[in-house]
Amino acid sequence: MNTKTAYRTHTCGELRLSDVGKRVVLVGWARRVRTLGGVVFVDLWDRYGITQVIFNQQWDKDLYEQAKKIDREFVIQVEGEVRERENKNPNIPTGEIEIKASKLTILNISKLPPFTLEEHTDGGEELRAKYRYLDLRRPPMQRNLIFRHKLLQFTRNWLSKEGFLELETPFLIKSTPEGARDFVVPSRLYPGHFFALPQSPQLFKQLFMISGYDKYFQIVRCFRDEDLRADRQPEFTQIDCEMSFVDENDVLNTFERFVTDAFKELLNYDLEPFIRMPYEEAMNKYGSDKPDVRFGMLITDITKDVQGHGFKVFDNSEYVGALPVPGGATLSRKKWDQWEEYIKQMADVPGFFYVTWKEELKAKGPIIKILGEETTRELLIKSKAQQGDAIIIMAGPWEKTVSALGTLRMNIAKELNIIPKDTFKALFVVDFPLFSWNEEENRWEPNHHPFTSPKDTDIHLLDTDPGQVKAKAYDLVINGVEVAGGSIRIHDQKIQQKIFDLLGLSREEAQQKFGFFLEALQYGTPPHGGIAFGFDRLTAIMLGEETIRSVIAFPKNKSGRDPMLDAPAPISPEQLKELHLKIVESDRE
Ligand code: AMO
Repeated sequence: MNTKTAYRTHTCGELRLSDVGKRVVLVGWARRVRTLGGVVFVDLWDRYGITQVIFNQQWDKDLYEQAKKIDREFVIQVEGEVRERENKNPNIPTGEIEIKASKLTILNISKLPPFTLEEHTDGGEELRAKYRYLDLRRPPMQRNLIFRHKLLQFTRNWLSKEGFLELETPFLIKSTPEGARDFVVPSRLYPGHFFALPQSPQLFKQLFMISGYDKYFQIVRCFRDEDLRADRQPEFTQIDCEMSFVDENDVLNTFERFVTDAFKELLNYDLEPFIRMPYEEAMNKYGSDKPDVRFGMLITDITKDVQGHGFKVFDNSEYVGALPVPGGATLSRKKWDQWEEYIKQMADVPGFFYVTWKEELKAKGPIIKILGEETTRELLIKSKAQQGDAIIIMAGPWEKTVSALGTLRMNIAKELNIIPKDTFKALFVVDFPLFSWNEEENRWEPNHHPFTSPKDTDIHLLDTDPGQVKAKAYDLVINGVEVAGGSIRIHDQKIQQKIFDLLGLSREEAQQKFGFFLEALQYGTPPHGGIAFGFDRLTAIMLGEETIRSVIAFPKNKSGRDPMLDAPAPISPEQLKELHLKIVESDRE
């Protein structure tokens, strides 16, 4: 790596004991400045590290006086001699040496930063977002972005070696079928017409397969106007991939190797082989389609055990499930009330009960009364509880109830510190239902997108029982986060039409939305499928970061705004006019 320039001979991370005696020129930011007994100490920082520079009054009075003018984050150039340090700092690679300065040039002064630029800062998230360029000087952000760079390079190299071609697709397009809201761009040349920004390059990557490119990838920005969460941004990056002449296993095996190699290369971590867990099993055992399998606390279906004993809440429920709580017998009443309150606010399931098992059994609700002591104890054992534990029992419609138990499972495991740290567990969730029923609109909706292929063995169910049709779709889940998703696509025009019919999409609507694509499907479409990784999520997981904002250089904040740019922002009346737009005054904030 050549870092020598007109301004410097070495970087601030480079010099060691073996360099003692050398005359060097360093440049960087004055991260810390202290004056002690006639000596100015400067911790000179750049991307590569920190080097201590000293200006001693006794060596050069003028230089010392000049050095006293240095303040935090001034950009300075220092010429001097490398010498061994008396008080060595074993915590940094340059900690055995220092620079005895003989010349100083202040290249630029700096306003005092509004927060400290250290490992742990005193600045709140909003302030740091406003001065993101300063936050990015902090070591944790530097580490994260440098890691991100490495993962990007690794990804490009790995996929290129595997024969994937990096091909680009346009940003100014028409609505894509990923199910979120589009960001739209008004057209100046065509009044009343709009481009949409891609939610993903889904249709383009399928077109590449029709064009015969066989293996495609792109590290690409995607745009979705949806509600924000810690792992969601309105613009985010995907590693988008598509392959021809493949089945589900071909895609899963390829990307299991990719992820395994990435963890090995970048973290020196050996991932275990990825389990492939059917969607139904994930929901039944973990109450989630993105199960965190780093720990147990599995949900047990106890519907049959508790029904028929005359307790209406159980008898009238489609499903009753139990969640073991390790050590739950000794928890305070207050804690139980908190969890009950929490889950009642999250999900409207009718029954929340619990049984604690010290020496004796105690219950909230009439469980012991209706089942008897002995059967209740058996139920606890069946639910994988031991003496000292507790179980939570919830009753209601299947999906809502298991999901609520799944939410509690994660919440309780976090609170009780049950989730092992520094462990990664990756798995594929497979066999998703092709459709889900939209209660409000009274119609089927695609679970993934409308181009996802049904399982061959389920095609006959499309006419009779669409809810039972499974999809050739899969998600990659690491530590309970959905990191990637994909599917094998429909390449048969007739099946595609049938799916549109089922989704209630008229021929005209389908034509208007995806006409170009339906036309393309008729020109020799190979069987094909693919996957897309949330690149920000993969990076955040690998770094153990809670939110993807920590691995994106300039993210939007929790409210979807950029506080540094102050965007979104109004545009000028001239621009509005040019774009043929009028703002409804009552809508303006
Ligand atoms: P999907 O919509 O599942 O599939 O997206 C793929 C992956 O992208 C990530 N992701 C996000 N990351 C950050 N912020 C967001 N708002 C966001 N939304 C999604 C997730 C997700 O698993 N075209 C299909 C893929 C395919 O079928 O090949 C698609 O986009 O990690």
